[in-house]
Amino acid sequence: MLILGIDTSCDDTAAGVLRAPRKVLSNEVATQFDLHAAFGGVVPEIASRAHTERVTLVIERAVAKAGITLEDLDAIAVTNRPGLVGALMVGVAAAKSLAMVLGIPLLGVHHIEAHCTAALAEHEDLDFPFVALVASGGHTALYDCVSAHEITLLSQTIDDAAGECFDKVAVMLGLPQPGGPSVSRLAEGGNPKAVRFPRARVKNDPTAFSFSGVKSAVLYYLKGPGGRRDAPDRADLPISYADIAASFEQAVVDALTKHALATVEAKGYGELVVGGGVAANQRLRADLAAKAPAGTKIRFPSHSLCADNGAMIALRGAALLEAGLIEDLGMDVSPTGVVR
Ligand code: KG4
Ligand code: ZN
Repeated sequence: MLILGIDTSCDDTAAGVLRAPRKVLSNEVATQFDLHAAFGGVVPEIASRAHTERVTLVIERAVAKAGITLEDLDAIAVTNRPGLVGALMVGVAAAKSLAMVLGIPLLGVHHIEAHCTAALAEHEDLDFPFVALVASGGHTALYDCVSAHEITLLSQTIDDAAGECFDKVAVMLGLPQPGGPSVSRLAEGGNPKAVRFPRARVKNDPTAFSFSGVKSAVLYYLKGPGGRRDAPDRADLPISYADIAASFEQAVVDALTKHALATVEAKGYGELVVGGGVAANQRLRADLAAKAPAGTKIRFPSHSLCADNGAMIALRGAALLEAGLIEDLGMDVSPTGVVR
């Protein structure tokens, strides 16, 4: 079974081909960082229009790189929830057209469920049940992945997503987007213990996340209480920007690590799968590996499977196809993930 996966849920136009159940044949992405850079965040209409320009080209590239033709495909999987509504519509319209013309099944994929299971493509011995930590620009949450058809939310952030926080701190430090890679590159030369930024606890929910406090703490460190002062010259700060970046990164990583390991322990599965763009973070990888109790395996997909990509959508589509969960051509999109 050859499945094409398409994702246009946010600012990446992505398509990948999977040989079911787990073999990735191609995984092509066109990013839009340059288009949104001047606006300090993703502009929905710009994202939709860029997807419209690119989606068929990215699909063509994914099919060619897989060494197949469109006629070889057995099913089309596409993210239809959650995400930016206009952005989702572009991928879904492309997927429907292909499914109709080729006369093959259409599969509607939940983007976060796809992040949860992406690691299956690279870890042959990985199987359900496991706990998944998904940390990206839009989401930070822990999921109970009981089986391919029972993936439930356990806890999540009550405010900012971890990746969003990296992106905002990058702006404060004058670094380019996406903020995750640029902040962690700067943090490599810094002291993670230079400043103790807060590790927020959510009342009555010990594994939920809250990152707005650490983001504000960095702002106040640079610009005083309320963040109203002009940022001081770097030379006037008692510590370097690298120290600030490292201390911020450590605060976020500590929260992710602590809550994820506590959840795996509570579930007793012995398997933690990490997904989403923040899973590329080297300090997170090192700390999770170092702090995991004996007998707990931590599974990290490679960067191309952590960030938004089409192969993870195809992989999730393979599970839906196997279960017969095929959509008709009237399939809708859902920005929140809740299906009407
Ligand atoms: O999953 P993803 O590609 O797209 C979303 O669905 O959001 O995640 C993108 C997010 C961005 O916020 C980016 O700054 C963050 O992942 N990110 C990182 C790293 N690489 C990407 N955050 C921390 N450390 C990294 N190395
Ligand atoms: Zn994502």
